[in-house]
Formats: sequence, C-alpha cells, structure tokens
Amino acid sequence: MINIAVRAARSAGNILLRYFEHTDSLTVTEKNKNDFVSEVDKAAEQAIIEVLQKAYPDHAILGEESGSHKGNEYQWVIDPLDGTTNYLHGNPQFCISIALKYQGQLEHGVIYDPLREEMFSATRGSGAFLNDRRIRVSPRKGLEGALIGTGFPYRDLSNLDAYLGMFGAMTKETAGIRRPGSAALDFAYVAAGRLDGFWELGLSEWDFAAGALLVREAGGTVTDIGGGDRFMESGNVLTGGLKTHAAMLEIIKPHLTDRIKY
Ligand code: IPD
Ligand code: CA
Ligand code: CA
Repeated sequence: MINIAVRAARSAGNILLRYFEHTDSLTVTEKNKNDFVSEVDKAAEQAIIEVLQKAYPDHAILGEESGSHKGNEYQWVIDPLDGTTNYLHGNPQFCISIALKYQGQLEHGVIYDPLREEMFSATRGSGAFLNDRRIRVSPRKGLEGALIGTGFPYRDLSNLDAYLGMFGAMTKETAGIRRPGSAALDFAYVAAGRLDGFWELGLSEWDFAAGALLVREAGGTVTDIGGGDRFMESGNVLTGGLKTHAAMLEIIKPHLTDRIKY
C-alpha cells in the first residue's frame, strides 16, 4: 500500500512540476477568504485518486478538493497540493500529502516535495524515511537553540490574539521561528530533524494526517495544542521531539483560551 501511495504522489508531482513554470495562466478561484484553489490542485487530486482506485477500488477516500468518497474500512486522506498560496506565487515550498487509515488508525503516510525530489514516508511500526534513508526527530533537550516552525493565521483570524501571544513567548525562548507555508512539509521537516518543533491552529485533517504518522515513526510526538490527543478534531497541533514538545507546551499553556483549549 505504501508503494501505491508513493506512485500516486509521484504522478501528482509530475502535474505540479508541469504547471509550476506557468502559474500566471492558471484558473484560480477563491473557495473562502484567502483560500485559493486552482485547476492544478484538482488535476493533482484526480491523478492521485486514479492510481489509488485502480489498485484499491473498495477503499474510501477523503480528498481536500473532491470531498468524501464512500468505501470500506480503509480510508485515504489526500492533500494534492499543500502550500497552494506559495505555489500560485511561484514560491518553491509545497508538497503532496497522502495518508492511509485503517479503522480510523493511521497506517501509512507519504509526503512528497517534487521540486527537491524528497519522498518522506512512514508505515506504522516501521519507522520514517526520507527517500531510502531512515530519519529521526532532533534530539534537542529544550528550546535553547531550537528552530521552530509555525503557520500564521490568515483565513480565520478569530484566534489571532491568542496565537500572537504564543508567538511572542516562543520568539523569546528559541533561536528562531519559520513560516514556510506548507504544513505537511513542516511536519516532514520535524520528522527529519530540520525543525525542532512546529505548531499551528486550525489545520484540516489532510494537512497533517501523513505528517503526524511521520513524526511519530521518527520518534517524536504529536498532540493538540493543550497537550491532549484531540488534534484530529480541533486541528490545533503541536509537534516535536519529546523534550522540545514538552517545553513548547509550557510556553503555549498560558495563552490557551476557552476557544482554544485543545
Ligand atoms: C495550507 C498550508 C499552510 C497552512 C494552512 C493550510 P493548502 O494548506 O498547509 O501552510 O498554514 O493552514 O491550509 O491550503 O495550501 O493546502
Ligand atoms: Ca493543506
Ligand atoms: Ca491543498
């Protein structure tokens, strides 16, 4: 199944690369405020679904662009282009994310950066890989010297003040904060030890399904923003190596609100 996921990701990767030189001439629509979708997002999702359905016609699918397709107890969770805003600006930080759940549990995850030809993959119980090389989260013991990834709010700004409180506190305690613009790739970078930790509010399942498995299989931890296990529900995620994650949680806790508890 992981091989099929890799094949599907490569097929979508070819589409993303083909159009990346011509982003000016793409048809773009705004789904919601600051939430753009182009014909490339849709074509890439179609390509992924074609590969998956050919191999596993009975599996269910949840795709960001085409929604939910009914099936058996296996469900693929797809973000065909994570980092659309970057992509549409010709900014080379984006990826494809594909996860497979069985009876609700994450079993396989693939995150592919077609520009760098980096294929991140993980299978539950078998570790995380970048191409053929095993990856692990960084062994950092706390926030001193830490490089932390995040996503700034830009669509729903209702929790901006709480977010800025977290951001300010984190800025004071770490070596630097990055906002690359593709949450799935941020998770992959945490798994590979390129970021020591990451947090973002209001993500969707397809942004982090594959990434959550990658980080866990790389020896790290993923929780909701309050340190619990409800991130699938809330979309408020906090991830990193065990010690960095614990230190980030302490920094974030004073800024939790009634609306953002988990
Ligand atoms: C977005 C990216 C971005 C994150 C947003 C996501 P999209 O996904 O991952 O980094 O800040 O919350 O929605 O729309 O480009 O697939
Ligand atoms: Ca996304
Ligand atoms: Ca997307």
